[in-house]
Amino acid sequence: MKSEQQAEARPEDRPKHLLRTLSTALRRAIGEVESDVRKAEPIGMGTKLGPYTLEQKIGQGGMGAVYRARHDRLPRPVAVKLLRTRVAGEESQQLFQQEVLQTSRLTHPSTVQIFDFGIAPNGIYYYAMEYIEGLTLDDLVLDYGPVPPGRVIYIMSQVAHALAEAHEQGLVHRDIKPANILLCDRGGVVDLPKLVDFGLVADLQAPIDPGDSKPRVLLGTPMYMAPEALVESHRIDARTDLYALGAVAYYLLTGQDIFDDPCDVEGLIRLQLHVMPRTPSERLARKLPRDFERIIMSCLAKDPTDRPRDALALREQLLDCLDARTWGMREAENWWAAQGLCVRRRSADGTRMSGTSRDQTTRIPEWQRRTDKIKG
Ligand SMILES: Nc1ncnc2c1ncn2[C@@H]1O[C@H](COP(=O)(O)OP(=O)(O)O)[C@@H](O)[C@H]1O
Ligand SMILES: [Mg+2]
Repeated sequence: MKSEQQAEARPEDRPKHLLRTLSTALRRAIGEVESDVRKAEPIGMGTKLGPYTLEQKIGQGGMGAVYRARHDRLPRPVAVKLLRTRVAGEESQQLFQQEVLQTSRLTHPSTVQIFDFGIAPNGIYYYAMEYIEGLTLDDLVLDYGPVPPGRVIYIMSQVAHALAEAHEQGLVHRDIKPANILLCDRGGVVDLPKLVDFGLVADLQAPIDPGDSKPRVLLGTPMYMAPEALVESHRIDARTDLYALGAVAYYLLTGQDIFDDPCDVEGLIRLQLHVMPRTPSERLARKLPRDFERIIMSCLAKDPTDRPRDALALREQLLDCLDARTWGMREAENWWAAQGLCVRRRSADGTRMSGTSRDQTTRIPEWQRRTDKIKG
């Protein structure tokens, strides 16, 4: 039995050899997935899954992809996310089912709406959801540069509101990052963020199976992962998402990640555990609104108890910032009108993914066993 004290040991106390083992494991895991995907059946334009015909690939993950698709009878585009069950293991199938079932419980306008879930005769799992014509927050920064504080507040307060609904239901997203938030125009409501990809969602209310001795796996995107998610997955809670949301706000405001990417998981995890990022104003060497900057830095606190209490508290704090008054519907409409209401979407194949820990959802097997060994 581990003592309370050991279970609560601070991240700073973790031995360094743990970090060294990570990049090897990650490289191996990614390599295995890539070779399996290459062997998989071809899926592409024209493939039919239930009533949906795939038209264009809009996103690509390790186990599947997201396509814009057409329904046989309804005259609106949909997005179809699919999982190639031939290459995905049982665990990935479970995660995929969990993703669609849990997302379908959520109704906030800033959470993507699920329409349908099916299994095609060729064994492909898929779900259909609203098609979001817009751009990811990653694309927003890459194409248009850093975002003014008032607009970051406008976007983040809506995402915090969407997260509040998930958290109230005991769901933690666990993969909040710029690529999983799309900014769109919905019937003239512009600058509407939409949260997608609940692929790693954790249900904190699910009963824990005491006989479950499976080694835990580290899952997430290291640049956006809070210290507790890196070392003790059982300590993940709603505030883990607030850490990631703080990192997203930092990225929007500065155009830079909270840390310069050391390009290896080991180095990045060391930073997440031990180093406080420079404040956005230090990073840019210019003044930024102090109240907003304080909120961002409090989200990034290493200790979850130093972060905002919950997503609604964070939203309140954001709306109280002086700059909250500088961006609203009218400013958003002007911005979208200036882009001709047609923002550029990057193609799924013209991906910028560096293959590093920066923006790639990562799976490190047997993580728990390693941490247990360290804890003794
Ligand atoms: N409903 C949607 N409408 C439009 N684009 C989407 C939609 N869902 C996902 N995408 C695009 O596909 C990408 C990958 O989708 P995501 O669900 O995040 O899959 P993955 O698990 O592979 O990261 C997203 O970053 C986004 O660009
Ligand atoms: Mg994603």
